Amino acid sequence: PSIDRMLGLPDFDYLARSRLNPAEYAYIAHGAGSEASFRNNLEAFNNFRFRPRVMVNITNIDASLKTSILGHEFDEPFFISPFAQAGIANKVAEGGLVNGASKHNLLYISSQTTTLPLEEIAALKEEGQVIWQQVSLSTLNDEPPIELFARIKSAGMKAIVLTVDSAGDRTAYRPLRYLPDTSISRDPRYTFMTWDFYKELQSLTTLPIIPKGIQTVEDARRAIEIGAPAIFLSNHGGRSLDGSPSALEIAWEIHENDPDIFSEIEVYADGGVRYGTDVLKLLALGVRAVGVGRPFMYANMYGSEGVSRAITLLEKEVTSAGANLGLVSLKDIDASYVSAFWDLV
Ligand code: FNR
Repeated sequence: PSIDRMLGLPDFDYLARSRLNPAEYAYIAHGAGSEASFRNNLEAFNNFRFRPRVMVNITNIDASLKTSILGHEFDEPFFISPFAQAGIANKVAEGGLVNGASKHNLLYISSQTTTLPLEEIAALKEEGQVIWQQVSLSTLNDEPPIELFARIKSAGMKAIVLTVDSAGDRTAYRPLRYLPDTSISRDPRYTFMTWDFYKELQSLTTLPIIPKGIQTVEDARRAIEIGAPAIFLSNHGGRSLDGSPSALEIAWEIHENDPDIFSEIEVYADGGVRYGTDVLKLLALGVRAVGVGRPFMYANMYGSEGVSRAITLLEKEVTSAGANLGLVSLKDIDASYVSAFWDLV
């Protein structure tokens, strides 16, 4: 279908469902175990309600969504989360993502297990475009990854996102028996991750290392104590521990128990974000920027045009929902614009 028929992020999923072969679609779409966490990532947003203010004069609305993320200026408060093998959806692979992100001055985080090698991805960057590099703890062996960090640095990536969830084996949900086994087996010798090890890794590079996969207020606080430059709340899109909380629930836990965290450090979050209203609920709780995974993988079926279309759609939704909330500027959003559904009943 013509790209103009895509009117929201979920449309790209419907397209992928009918166009990709079942094994490829299942690899991208699946969640771990019963997929309860995957579904909850989508549904948790509805456990929070907005508290819109009416009769606010929005004639001089500041439509800018500009946000600084770890000192870099971006035009959107959302970004492309790191996901493996973009080549599954399109031969252009990560190229569509890098170019789409560049067109909108959006942060792109490249996965460690991309289709194209990281140097090739880095070479696709536009002048001045900021890209971060994700590294999975589970792929590091007990040798310090000096070489890998040096490659990342010389490729011009500006930060390392260290995925700290998924320490154990993962049993993927397989909707059809004949689909390939996408479970990941870990060698237990190499799956240690202590905060001391994190410090050791940080000492190997001048690039900031941001832990991705923080899921409790305790770990958020611990990351600050250890000197993390920022934290990334995520349950890996519900693909790792079934029963793990959604990013919105983690952000709420922090908001309720240790809200200073949001001003002490930049907090990023992803999982289940499909609408502008989802972005706004996370920002309201104090999240600095919000990641989106699967929808960009599907949008990339159209290459950079599709990625660009998805960004434009999400941007429009954030802007119009912000106006309906009574926000003159996105900078004014705070926790008074949301309430938890269970507090209302
Ligand atoms: C991922 N994710 C992921 N995360 C990571 O740190 N390294 C990786 O290589 C991958 N690979 C990956 C592949 C695929 C196909 C998916 C769907 C996801 C998780 C990703 O970064 C992000 O946390 C989730 O995708 C966010 O959830 P949504 O937006 O997909 O619901």
